[in-house]
Amino acid sequence: MIKMDVINLKNRTVGSQYVATELLKQMKRKPDTVLGLATGNTMIEVYEHLSELININQVDVAQIRTFNLDEYIGLSADHHQSYHVYMNERLFDHNKGWNKDQIHLPAGDASDVEQECLNYEQLLNEVGPVDIQILGIGENGHIGFNEPDSSFESVTRVVDLTPSTINANSHYFDNVEDVPKQAISMGLASIMRAKKIILFAFGSNKKEAVQQMLNGDITESLPASILQRHPNVEVVLDDEIYRFSN
Ligand code: F6R
Repeated sequence: MIKMDVINLKNRTVGSQYVATELLKQMKRKPDTVLGLATGNTMIEVYEHLSELININQVDVAQIRTFNLDEYIGLSADHHQSYHVYMNERLFDHNKGWNKDQIHLPAGDASDVEQECLNYEQLLNEVGPVDIQILGIGENGHIGFNEPDSSFESVTRVVDLTPSTINANSHYFDNVEDVPKQAISMGLASIMRAKKIILFAFGSNKKEAVQQMLNGDITESLPASILQRHPNVEVVLDDEIYRFSN
């Protein structure tokens, strides 16, 4: 087992600035960087800082390739709760120069979702490996939408969301019934191919999952525990989770 690098960055703001800076440095170093991107509440301030840093450093993003982890099934790219819209509003619309042909998210409204999963995984293989993959973590230990008991061998596929995830994500929707029950998600094996992974977590509701991920068994019942097998993972935590998991 490889010991993961864990840092206490006190709070959400400092952590978000750090993650954004790591992404910026990578993009400056390698103009055709492949980024693995996540959505959710965790990444909101990360993208706020990143889009500002891109602008003030005048970074040319034209050749950057991005792959998002997941998208809800049934939501079109212009649906206001889709991850497509999230990414545009939080990142891509803030900087000139993103080449939309190089920005990839699974199409949640594809007529053949199984084929869409195969195509997405194939493209990821052709364009990848991802240089830096950023991850949040679910309260149940999911990464991407790889819910507990996802296979460590899994690749991009259709997944059923658990009641815990549907509930956690329901505040973005008018009613819990409106939250899609399925998503397309990169798999655990897809995520593990990234050269470097930065997992960011803050807030008391994540502390059990992070503690298990860092110190528990490597088990499919806690998908994030697979990261113990990755040679280059950094875990960025707030003070509360750091103290709890140490
Ligand atoms: C989002 C994703 C999820 C989230 C996780 C945490 O693309 O893949 O794994 O990172 O559900 O969500 P938040 O950040 O909303 O707590």
